[in-house]
Amino acid sequence: MDKKATWDRFYTENSKKGKFRNFEWFFGFDSVKHYILPILQATNTNSPLHVLDIGCGTSAFGSCIYTHLPCAVNVTCADISPVAVQLMQEHAESTPVQPCNPASTLVFREMDCTELQRHYEPRSLDLILDKGTTDALLRSTEGREKAGQVVRQCLTVLKPSGYLLQFSDEDPDARLLWLEKESQGSQVAANIAVQEVGKLRGVTYFCYQFTFHIGH
Ligand SMILES: C[S@@+](CC[C@H](N)C(=O)[O-])C[C@H]1O[C@@H](n2cnc3c(N)ncnc32)[C@H](O)[C@@H]1O
Repeated sequence: MDKKATWDRFYTENSKKGKFRNFEWFFGFDSVKHYILPILQATNTNSPLHVLDIGCGTSAFGSCIYTHLPCAVNVTCADISPVAVQLMQEHAESTPVQPCNPASTLVFREMDCTELQRHYEPRSLDLILDKGTTDALLRSTEGREKAGQVVRQCLTVLKPSGYLLQFSDEDPDARLLWLEKESQGSQVAANIAVQEVGKLRGVTYFCYQFTFHIGH
């Protein structure tokens, strides 16, 4: 599940099923908004916040933040699949939603999230969301390397006050070790906390939350 062509096929097949509907891996925004909105509301800045949803697919997470957050926010929904990005773009144009704050923006971009530094300055983002994207990459040997790259790139482009939230079904015993290993050697040292989100169809989901210290 680390191949662009696989995802292009998936979203092309989905788009043939009729009228566009957001497809959510695991769960929708309402189940986890209490992890996301307080972080953004507590962030102290005079300029708009910048939120990036990596591997957004056709999830409504980005547009929900855009419509729910009272302060100004620039939301970017990014995916490696141009099919997913086009579906999201067309949906946003045909069914526009109103931002909670008139200064907020919402954009959809084709992007390989193993190369975030090609698109963003170091220490420029306030929040990165990853729902199921790292999980998908971790399912293959080749993808594991890419998943590590994604984590390291996130650590580089997040502000020191920023957060990375990963929503995942991977057990903390395995995930925490892996995350600690992958984040070692980056310029920032990450604190990683985990909370149980809950059970869905017998599977337990977790929220892994990174915050940062500037390293030496
Ligand atoms: C399991 S889906 C999750 C989609 C969405 N986040 C959700 O929760 O519904 C994984 C997504 O990651 C995207 N993806 C895979 N590799 C990627 C990469 N290197 N850069 C950006 N997106 C990627 C896929 O196209 C797919 O949309």
